[in-house]
Amino acid sequence: MDKKVTVIGAGNVGSTAAQRLAEKELCDVVLIDVVEGLPQGKALDLAEAAPIEKHDAHLAGSNGYEASAGSQIVIITAGIARKPGMSRDDLLATNRRIVKGVTEQVVKFSPDAFLIIVSNPLDAMCHVALDASGLPRNRVIGMAGVLDSARFRAFIAMELKVSVENIHAFVLGGHGDTMVPLVRYSTVAGIPITELIPPERIEALVERTRKGGAEIVELLKTGSAYYAPASAAVEMAESILKDRKKILPCAAYLEGEYGIQGLFMGVPVKLGAGGIEEIISVKLTPAEQSAVKKSADAVQELVDAMKNLK
Ligand code: NAI
Ligand code: 2OP
Repeated sequence: MDKKVTVIGAGNVGSTAAQRLAEKELCDVVLIDVVEGLPQGKALDLAEAAPIEKHDAHLAGSNGYEASAGSQIVIITAGIARKPGMSRDDLLATNRRIVKGVTEQVVKFSPDAFLIIVSNPLDAMCHVALDASGLPRNRVIGMAGVLDSARFRAFIAMELKVSVENIHAFVLGGHGDTMVPLVRYSTVAGIPITELIPPERIEALVERTRKGGAEIVELLKTGSAYYAPASAAVEMAESILKDRKKILPCAAYLEGEYGIQGLFMGVPVKLGAGGIEEIISVKLTPAEQSAVKKSADAVQELVDAMKNLK
């Protein structure tokens, strides 16, 4: 392939993302992890599936960063995942250290890469990656909104028993319990969901979306979601690699957009060959604005908490 994507962290999200990237023949894939043998084993296993899956993407695993050199995109999933009873924020101190170290290595070997951050707490980890990389804001993009919106879309489709392909929805704000599923902009074949679903059921779907990550953690017991998160990260990577210019909800570093200064937040962006090519501003009602402000305050709290960590 003429494109190369490195995935850092060969755990659940990382290895599933590697599988999807290869099976869609988007690029060659390098998997990197600190655990000896893990990225090598998963890359080899995936490569052995290639004749059956009928793709020619090359897969390699490594514990060092040399193999990642010259990547167009690096997806960072390294870190610890949530266990039952843990919030995303409980991961702050450990994952901050991991994401900082990983990012410094990544940019040494791929100074022109786009970084897609997955590690939690997502918005805070985007700040760590932006600072540690020194990259401009269009190159550091957080994955959360695509996942949260996909959950909302799935729940709407289940509620109405219609195809998921008919559903458009998006979620603004931080990747936490204060996220803001935008009901007004959610449609089924162009029809606002408010025309099709009673308000109390919409509220239940919104609440389920907010707690979508925790719902999976409670079921799995030993880790958190990875199929949908991997799909979400790969949709973002594909839009950049193929210059599709999709409008996707992603965590972007805001410099005044939505009235927010110097903070990563989930907003609709245009993703193309230039990374974040545009931040799309949509009109919000006062209630939506205040929900976004509350979400921004929660992200700011985490960013401030990181300043007190060694
Ligand atoms: P996992 O535990 O299966 O995989 C994490 C991998 O990172 C492990 O293989 C571990 O060895 C590796 N790792 C740890 N330190 C490393 C380092 N310094 N360098 C390279 N690799 C390192 O966890 P999973 O389920 O893959 O989740 C990964 C992260 O993504 C977690 O922080 C999780 O909370 C987050 N996540 C975020 C989502 C989002 O919407 N933004 C959705 C799902 C997960
Ligand atoms: C999720 O939303 C844990 O952030 C992860 O599934």
